[in-house]
This record gives sequence, C-alpha cells and structure tokens, in this order.
Amino acid sequence: MIVPGASSQALAAAVATAMDEPLAAVEYDRFPDGETLAAVPDFDGGRAVVVATTDSNDAWVELLQLQDAVREAGADRVVTVIPYMGYARQDAAFEDGHPVSARAMAKAVSTGADRVVLVNPHEEDLASFFDAHVTIVDAASRLAAPLPDDLDDPLFLSPDASAVELAGSVREAYGRGETDYFEKVRHSGTEVEVTPSDADAAGRDVVIVDDIVATGSTMSEAVAHLQSGGAARVFATCVHPLLVRNARTKLERAGIERIVGTDTVERAVSAVSVAPNVAAAVDAVTQ
Ligand code: R5P
Repeated sequence: MIVPGASSQALAAAVATAMDEPLAAVEYDRFPDGETLAAVPDFDGGRAVVVATTDSNDAWVELLQLQDAVREAGADRVVTVIPYMGYARQDAAFEDGHPVSARAMAKAVSTGADRVVLVNPHEEDLASFFDAHVTIVDAASRLAAPLPDDLDDPLFLSPDASAVELAGSVREAYGRGETDYFEKVRHSGTEVEVTPSDADAAGRDVVIVDDIVATGSTMSEAVAHLQSGGAARVFATCVHPLLVRNARTKLERAGIERIVGTDTVERAVSAVSVAPNVAAAVDAVTQ
C-alpha cells in the first residue's frame, strides 16, 4: 500500500502505478485548534510506503501521524519516502544556541520508519542523522527530459560548487554540452551574491541546475549575470521547486526562458516525475 502525505498526492499515485500497488485513501483533517489529523484505511499486515514531502511544519507532523497510523492499522513494516526533506539546510548549529534541526527531524522520523528513502537531500551526510537505514535517490538526471532538443552549444551551470554534480548529471542525461559552476556567497535568507564562472556564456543556451529553488534569490542572481554576459536562452532547473514568496516573479523578471522542476514538491513547474526512481529504491530496500 502506498500512503500519500497531503503534499505528495500526485507523486504517491505515480509511485503506486509504477509499483502496481494500491494507493491508500488517506483522510486529511484539521481540528478547530489547528492540529492536523491524517487517517488511513485498514491494512492486512503488509508493508506500507508513506510518501510525504515535508515542506511545512504541518507536513512534518502529518508524516509522523501517517507512520503511526499505518502501524495502528496493521502494517508490519514502514518504508518512509521523503521526496523533499525540509529543515535539511539547518544541518548544523550555525550560532550558539541554535538546534541542529535536520537531526531533530531525522530522529523523530526514525522512531516510526524501518527504512527511509530521501530524494536528493540537501547534503548526503544528512543520512547519518537517521537511526533508520537510509537510501538516497539521485533524480537530477530527470530534469533533462523537458529541455528542448535544440539547445545551442549548451552550458550546464550550477549556482555554487556544491551543486556541480547535479549539473553534470543533467548534462550527461541531455547528451551534450559543457558543465561549470558559479561561486556563491549567502548574506542572508534572501540575499546572495554569485560570481560568474570561467565558461563564456555569450550567445549560448544555458541550463542552471540547483537542488532547491526556495526564494529564487540564488537562481535570479545567476540568471542576471548570464543575461548581462550575453547568454541566449536561460533555463532554470531544480529537483525541488519550493518557489516560496515571490520566487516565481523574481525568476520571470530576471529573464528566464522556463523553469523546470520535479514533483518532489508539487508545483505548476513540476514537469517531470521522480516516481520511477522512488519505485526502484523502494523495491530495492524491500526485496
Ligand atoms: C543552497 O545551498 C541550495 O543549493 C540552493 O541554492 C538554495 O537553497 C536556494 O535558495 P534560494 O532560492 O532561497 O536562493
């Protein structure tokens, strides 16, 4: 049985189709005081696969509820798929008195999961925060499929050095082009400064690849540099299209040709599904 969190209903349905397994009819409710309630149908003792992106505090609580509910309903094993893991960027105590929020979340999830599957977590080291066994899925290569076939002398660029492997995966899946990266310094949650790479973007189609687009500050800064450097079309791609606040507007104003994301976060720009990658990972951990 595939059990969707409220934010991952389309992805969970695609995973159920890919695995030829039933999709649970979860009921999502909220009490007058704001508390959430996620309820599942009965199980006949099998394995439950909870698929729940944790892009909000409510989504985190709901995931913990679903893990508990499926056991109450009779599941004997729980595989938890977190397509996008929120709080992953809080992976250290950056100042005195700060929590390691990602660790706190990972410990909480581990109390109810036998296995955990993460799709392109912000850092792979996050796996060590979980007490349950973690499988990491790399779905970045999926971002190549929605790109036009006629990219001119394409340059696949990451906005910082840590995402250059993602850019490499998309370039490889696309089949041609060059890979490079910008240097990035973050000044605040919404202010970033990027420095252009060595590669000359003038007259070329550029595909920027990142793991997350949240406020759009990183991506729009990169796009602005490329536009002033004379790039032709600029495509913004990411695994997790969070697109909070006015991110979409920032990207449009910066002059992107198109933004492409996956369905780890279900948005209008989710042009490609990670379901085949998730299904293969769940199959592998439950053999
Ligand atoms: C940071 O290291 C990530 O890879 C992304 O570049 C970042 O999370 C994007 O955030 P924003 O869209 O708010 O600039």
